[in-house]
Amino acid sequence: MNISNIKSRFPVFKKNPNLVFLDTAASALKVDEMIEATNNCYSNEYANIHRGNYELSSKLTKKFEDARKKVADYLNISENNIIFVKSATEGINLVASCMSKRYLNDGDEIILSYLEHHANLIPWHLIEKNIRIVPLGLNENSEINYNELNNKINSKTKLISLTHMSNVTGSITNFNKVKDFAKKDNIPLLLDGCQFAPHKKVDLKELDPDFYVFSAHKMYGPSGLGILYMKDKWIDEFSPYQGGGQMINDVEINKSTYATGYEKFEAGTPPIAPVIGFSSSLNFMNEVDPNVIYDYEMKLHDYAYEKLSKFNNIKIFGSNKHKGAIISFNIEGVHNSDFGAMLDKKNIAIRTGHHCCQPLMKHFNVTGTSRISFGIYNTKEDVDYFIDSIHEITKILL
Ligand SMILES: Cc1ncc(COP(=O)(O)O)c(C=O)c1O
Repeated sequence: MNISNIKSRFPVFKKNPNLVFLDTAASALKVDEMIEATNNCYSNEYANIHRGNYELSSKLTKKFEDARKKVADYLNISENNIIFVKSATEGINLVASCMSKRYLNDGDEIILSYLEHHANLIPWHLIEKNIRIVPLGLNENSEINYNELNNKINSKTKLISLTHMSNVTGSITNFNKVKDFAKKDNIPLLLDGCQFAPHKKVDLKELDPDFYVFSAHKMYGPSGLGILYMKDKWIDEFSPYQGGGQMINDVEINKSTYATGYEKFEAGTPPIAPVIGFSSSLNFMNEVDPNVIYDYEMKLHDYAYEKLSKFNNIKIFGSNKHKGAIISFNIEGVHNSDFGAMLDKKNIAIRTGHHCCQPLMKHFNVTGTSRISFGIYNTKEDVDYFIDSIHEITKILL
């Protein structure tokens, strides 16, 4: 893989060639093909879809539905199980809200973990049923302690909802282990794929969760689009999440019946241009190959992890095993936000703070960390410059 070719696919580097972007876990930089497809959609192809009986509308409707098929093919499942939402966050809120109406009862329990992003915590706090959240603890490597599933699953357990990869430590969930426990008792599974999907091949037929969510913007794609995979059983069982145009069968002034299938969950004008743009991001992912992306980023990760481990005054959170290319750490005596601000002066972008994972921060007994995360455009030189900058900054601050 020729990295300079890859970098040239990201227009931001034309304007800012020395940018060292180490915050892909928050949102990835945008690939040219996606920007051009989005631009072309608005410039030349745009009309509302599904409704118009004129050529512009019908052509874009076909392109939109072809994109749904492309997303489904990428994940190795049927397009009938793909629901477009505005973000992964909305996807989890949709599942939580629908489960609360049709499936959960007061006193039920759902199992989450201390690695969860707030997007997989707060939707469960907000539902109107009085459920109990049972958290899985972490082992000495800050990975989910799967052994706890044995004691924590009981007759009240109605869902296991876990991150596929932690946005703080990069730890990848061993989903097969979780499945072994869950399937025995027929407990549905939700996987939050926000951090995993952009970096490694996802085969949902093989993984076989009940629900899978991720966001297009972390995958070199547009913001404003989340993908929710839902098994047929739940599509049939759940009632609509929101009401409005497109999700109906028949409407009278005081009552309505609803569409079946995924359409039931897509009320109103959908994120048309983001879906068209995301289809092009997937072309890029396929061109490079998601497993090549993983191997490349992990080489950078391992290189950075080793260099960071050599500092006596740096504490790394999480291990360097079973993970994706994210490292969280703190420098003794340096506040992470001062560190981030000083890196910014050197044209290095990292994320600092609690990373929307306050329970995990409390588990680590910190208020925040510094986090670096890699994308396909990063290089070994980025890591070297970053490490040199740590030496310079700590000389000034300590
Ligand atoms: C693990 C994880 N889950 C969920 C989310 C929420 O994604 P979004 O803000 O795109 O809805 C994020 C975003 O950082 C994340 O890292």
